[in-house]
Amino acid sequence: MSHTPLRFVRLVVLFFAAVLAVCPLDSSIEQRIDSLLARMTLDEKIGQMSQSTSMATLTESIKAEIRQGRWSSFLNAGGPADRAEAQRIARSESRLGIPLLFGRDVLHGYRTIFPIPLGQAASWDPELIEQAARTAAVEASTEGIRWSFAPMVDIARDPRWGRIAESPGEDPYLASVVGAAVVRGFQRRSLSDPQSIAACAKHYAGYGAVEAGREYNSAWIPEVLLRDVYLPPFRAMLAAGAVSVMAAFNTINGVPATGNEFLLRRILREEWGFDGTVVSDYTAIPEMEAHGYAASAGDAAREALGAGIDIEMVSTTYHDHLKELIESRRVPMQWVDDAVRNVLRLKFRLGLFDQPIPVSRQAVITADARGLAQRLTMESVVLLKNENHLLPLAPSIRSVAIIGPLADSPVDQMGSWAMDGRAEDVVTPLAALRQTLGNARALYAPGLKNSRATDRNGFAVALDAARKADVVLLFLGEEQILSGEARSRAFINLPGAQEDLVSEVGKARKPMVAIIQAGRPLTFQKVTAQARAVLYAWHPGTMGGPAIADLLFGRAVPSGKLPVTFPRTIGQVPIYYARLNTGRPASPAELGIPMGNPANPEGYTSKYIDVDLTPEYPFGYGLSYNDFAYSQLRLSAQTLMEDGTLSVSADLTNRGKYGGAEVVQLYVHCVTASVAQPVRVLKGLRRVQLQPGETKTVTFVLTAADLAYHNQQMQLVAEPGPYQVWIAPDSARGLQGEFTLK
Ligand code: BGC
Repeated sequence: MSHTPLRFVRLVVLFFAAVLAVCPLDSSIEQRIDSLLARMTLDEKIGQMSQSTSMATLTESIKAEIRQGRWSSFLNAGGPADRAEAQRIARSESRLGIPLLFGRDVLHGYRTIFPIPLGQAASWDPELIEQAARTAAVEASTEGIRWSFAPMVDIARDPRWGRIAESPGEDPYLASVVGAAVVRGFQRRSLSDPQSIAACAKHYAGYGAVEAGREYNSAWIPEVLLRDVYLPPFRAMLAAGAVSVMAAFNTINGVPATGNEFLLRRILREEWGFDGTVVSDYTAIPEMEAHGYAASAGDAAREALGAGIDIEMVSTTYHDHLKELIESRRVPMQWVDDAVRNVLRLKFRLGLFDQPIPVSRQAVITADARGLAQRLTMESVVLLKNENHLLPLAPSIRSVAIIGPLADSPVDQMGSWAMDGRAEDVVTPLAALRQTLGNARALYAPGLKNSRATDRNGFAVALDAARKADVVLLFLGEEQILSGEARSRAFINLPGAQEDLVSEVGKARKPMVAIIQAGRPLTFQKVTAQARAVLYAWHPGTMGGPAIADLLFGRAVPSGKLPVTFPRTIGQVPIYYARLNTGRPASPAELGIPMGNPANPEGYTSKYIDVDLTPEYPFGYGLSYNDFAYSQLRLSAQTLMEDGTLSVSADLTNRGKYGGAEVVQLYVHCVTASVAQPVRVLKGLRRVQLQPGETKTVTFVLTAADLAYHNQQMQLVAEPGPYQVWIAPDSARGLQGEFTLK
């Protein structure tokens, strides 16, 4: 095979056309920026480059700062009334009347909390995700918030990292699809619609690759991996129209992302043509000193601005040092003007200068929003096991025992970054099951106070409930505060005495169903061995209870698929499907090594001697109450030409008893490449709805552009040669075909 790249200049051109189509530079906005900039003092300019979090309530001193134009924006500021009043002061009492911008972490809902982002990604349903983001935008903008620090599109391949909960998982294609849906939902077609909010693609870049899953740790990412895995979701967010980007906390290859000219100038601005706003993360600029990169806070300010950070979040190195840096000519005025321009552009794009000063209003949770949250949750839950079709349960069942610390825990159910969600809005599984069955048939005995509890006092009552019931429902997992930012775990098992609780309740010898709510993939083999069915519900949000009850009783059929690989043990991490082969791959005969005690070592192949090589559940995996049969893979040709297309189709039949959806996945593998390529890479997905007995043909169309990756010269190329292709239910199975790219 030759490694001559096809000419893909065309690809790059198409991409920029897409960006510009969404976000053209508006000449009238640019003129207004020019005229404003010409009237601004240096203090006012630095103010536009500074974001405060200090406005818990609107004190007199903050009002004075707003009049002086000391802040462009506020993070997590006050309530709706404070925000409306602050905006009135900025617009009518500051010298230039520049509006404020209120930002907040609207990660997976505002008042209505949808599943955590990792859970939403498990739905593989961009349409519903877009609607959820729209609902969040409407609720947030009602309360004066016009900027969300989302979507988070950090590729996360390490379940130890607590922020995997906020991520779209391990795969750049899936991350791009679900992240773009969030951008569309937030920004709609027009950012100046008062109900639109600005998206912020974060954390740029490589934050998900922090070593050993330890929060804020360094990331080492070779450039090919950066360009093929970690950067594409950011690029996809810009193509979807995202108008802001947040730099990450971590160093990447030794350079803090916050002062990283390569990432922020060369790639983001020059290669991708980004004309939006770049914000630092929370105090990340002065943190460059602790990283051992900047010599002082002033030096950090210079490095950050030089790299292209337009707005400093929370810390005040710009306020404290920029004037002096400009006077001493260590920072050119041009850097300041460029940054201010980028900030004002965002405010103009949002229509903030032109809309009436908002009045204070409260977001309410509507029946529609609840319905949407319930549907998205139903789609995000993944059925991992269903022995002998235990699920769905018959509605006529005499009684169920509801056991475990997460059956009735509203705050935990909302997951991390749900600060505007309210516990009183949440419907828990216990409440929903009581509604379905009536109190007398829903026997509740939590057994443990919370997920980490070790006190066994509740075990006897739980066992008693299990003995009285036909089926035991075990609500297990991790509490809200165990995942999210600064919540790295070195053990990813079920915390506390949950496994012991399951063993105790197992003595009743009743069929058990485990429903696990968590912010990350956990390891829970002991539970899987004892439970006949397992549903993975992530942190499911406001309507988690009704969604889970619907799934348990067959009013809905599970269709979620894992957006991340589940390891058998923490010792396999990092483990992800899009790995490279080795020179000595293990043979199929070498699979099945039992976990824990080393087997007699045999052979010199790439594997472990004390655990199987494969994961517990592969990326893309998820069962249904139906059995979906894949058949008849066909390719429109054996050859894909540089400028041609190739159709890949297969038939999908619902052999089950229920109407339901299957997420069909398209994978490819470039067999020989100038930079070795993963054994499989996801290139397409389709959610297909099928009635019992129905067959549908699913067709994907591939172009050479879909096959492109970066070569050793960092060019995006599609290399001629043989490729494998799969239409598959997950990353470990599927119908396989071959074609050649010419
Ligand atoms: C997080 C960001 C977040 C910011 C503001 C930081 O600690 O890393 O993701 O947007 O806080 O809340």
